[in-house]
Amino acid sequence: MVSALRTSLKRTPLLRSAASVRLLSTAPKQPTLKERLAELIPVAREQVKAARVQHGKKSFGPVLVNQLYGGMRGLPALIWEGSVLDPDEGIRFRGKTIPEIQQQLPKAPGGSEPLPEGLFWLLVTGEVPTYEQVAELSKDWAARAAIPDFVEEILDRCPPTLHPMSQFSLAVTALNHNSAFAQAYAEGISKKEYWGPTFDDSMDLIAKLPNIAGRIYRNVYGRGKLPPIDVQKDYSHNLSALLGFGDNAGFVELMRLYITIHSDHEGGNVSAHTGKLVGSALSDPFLSYAAALNGLAGPLHGLANQEVLVWLTKMQAKIGEDASDEAVKKYRQVVPGYGHAVLRKTDPRYVAQREFALKHLPDDKLFKLVGQIYNIVPGILLEAGKAKNPWPNVDAHSGALLTYYGLTEMQYYTVLFGVSRAFGVAAQLIWDRALGAPLERPKSYSTDAINKIFKDKN
Ligand SMILES: CC(C)(COP(=O)(O)OP(=O)(O)OC[C@H]1O[C@@H](n2cnc3c(N)ncnc32)[C@H](O)[C@@H]1OP(=O)(O)O)[C@@H](O)C(=O)NCCC(=O)NCCS
Repeated sequence: MVSALRTSLKRTPLLRSAASVRLLSTAPKQPTLKERLAELIPVAREQVKAARVQHGKKSFGPVLVNQLYGGMRGLPALIWEGSVLDPDEGIRFRGKTIPEIQQQLPKAPGGSEPLPEGLFWLLVTGEVPTYEQVAELSKDWAARAAIPDFVEEILDRCPPTLHPMSQFSLAVTALNHNSAFAQAYAEGISKKEYWGPTFDDSMDLIAKLPNIAGRIYRNVYGRGKLPPIDVQKDYSHNLSALLGFGDNAGFVELMRLYITIHSDHEGGNVSAHTGKLVGSALSDPFLSYAAALNGLAGPLHGLANQEVLVWLTKMQAKIGEDASDEAVKKYRQVVPGYGHAVLRKTDPRYVAQREFALKHLPDDKLFKLVGQIYNIVPGILLEAGKAKNPWPNVDAHSGALLTYYGLTEMQYYTVLFGVSRAFGVAAQLIWDRALGAPLERPKSYSTDAINKIFKDKN
């Protein structure tokens, strides 16, 4: 379908490079994201129909009983066009690698990292937007950013001892109070139109996350009042400002990279799949994303970025700042930030963050420890012989970067992952409603049934 979208896109005069659009100041107004989506959806619907007619009855290979018991590893079970994860190469967003994304997506004036607004546009449409389109999206999100008073009150009443992810999930759930989709559904909207209010809710969801994340940070860590959203600034700048880092250009650049690379990781990971699963019951985007956040809060998933920093700082306290490789080797435990359910090589999201660190903080001690661990841990995991992937994932690096810029509260780290992952989950929910994705309902079996089914089979 991606190639078909690209073909349709080549045929349309709307596809121009950012540079050529800027030259044509008299050019007609470029379409908004919603207008462009409305053009693409009928094409995609036809593509899905054709794929189902052509391939619908074909088998996708055997299912092993071990996959039923083994967390469905590798089981082909879902469709999501936005991103695909190759075990060796890592993630591609609509066919583009992270370095390609960094090169091709629009940047803020003076910035060198991609704007996550552009990544969202790419996830939703399969197209690289112009700078002007991305700037419009920044303005739109800034205009939608306010959260209802009662959601502020919910957050203000949370004890600071309640984990920031639990507070985040509570607030996102409560946003469902004003869901356009829930209201339209109650009023009997037709199935073909579901995607419109889902789009509006998804835009509201993403837009409101910085105010929620900022309020949690300031409440829990006593950092004073939130500044207002600046409609002239991009999403990452506003998020940084709400956290108290708006004047720190390096942190703002880090947020642009961070949100972009954490946004999506194909459809089967816990947060993305949870969002899709709950959305398949026609729960609105707020309820669906709150469920996804609860999955992201698990230590085997998003909480790993918190765990890595806890692990690193404990290790640093125990073996010192400039410890030898021998001392690091002796400090053995389960290594958070290493291993992956799909990847079998170093995560390109780790590499992108390492390159950012080499550029902005090459002499930082914690960054050096992260690099030292990279030279040692894969060997240890290979030697232990259990982990299928001994290489680092995205979480092995992110905490060290945040710490460098002064965001040292590790318990908060997964909230930033949660802001980012909304981009992917929201894009997927919009397309699931556009393509009429059905209620998810796989079949479960008992061990007794398995034994009966395979009784006389080899
Ligand atoms: C990501 C993760 C959950 C994938 O799980 P998985 O698909 O079951 O991984 P594997 O098939 O390679 O696991 C096989 C064995 O290796 C172990 N293993 C995997 N990664 C390990 C690590 N980083 N350190 C120590 N042991 C590890 C597993 O615990 C498992 O042991 P068991 O058979 O005794 O239960 C796992 O690698 C992990 O726990 N990593 C640390 C947490 C993390 O970084 N999560 C973020 C992922 S983006």
